[in-house]
Amino acid sequence: MGRKRVVLYASRTGTTQKIAQDLANRFEADLIKVFPHKEYRSFANAIMRVAKEKATNEQATSGTEFCDSSDYEIIFLGFPIWAGDVPTYFQDHILNSEFGGTTIVPFATSAFSSMANSIRTIKQLCPGSRIMYPFLYNRKTANQYPGWLYKLKSFLA
Ligand SMILES: Cc1cc2nc3c(=O)[nH]c(=O)nc-3n(C[C@H](O)[C@H](O)[C@H](O)COP(=O)(O)O)c2cc1C
Repeated sequence: MGRKRVVLYASRTGTTQKIAQDLANRFEADLIKVFPHKEYRSFANAIMRVAKEKATNEQATSGTEFCDSSDYEIIFLGFPIWAGDVPTYFQDHILNSEFGGTTIVPFATSAFSSMANSIRTIKQLCPGSRIMYPFLYNRKTANQYPGWLYKLKSFLA
């Protein structure tokens, strides 16, 4: 029997979603989109709310039911980088899903930011998990995407 995998992702404008769908197809994983409890409508609305959350240390919450992570051995976590980090509603979802000792493959999309803060955040949210093969997709790194898929293919074989 193959290992059970899931791609859990957040995406407002579809960039992260494309990668999430591609991974789910290639690696036969379940695909679950995580929505914020309160939707971020326009770009301006999102920028304003996220800045306010940051200034007040406020955490947005997930509007998606938490999955039973004990079903999965590999969890892909995909998200857009917001204010240099993992969107707080996605953090809420990760924290409350209690991933335990699973293997996490994080991927993010961004305009320019690095993934360093996000990886630190994920480590804090999932202290018992192994974080493997993180990948940041943006204009600069898009050409490394096939190489990342190739590495994942041998890892998951
Ligand atoms: C509220 C908000 C904050 C963002 N903050 C950053 C940031 O700090 N650094 C960055 O490189 N891109 C930032 N972006 C751009 C997104 O990370 C980028 O467009 C991403 O690919 C969008 O993914 P999506 O289409 O899956 O939603 C931000 C976008 C929004 C809406």
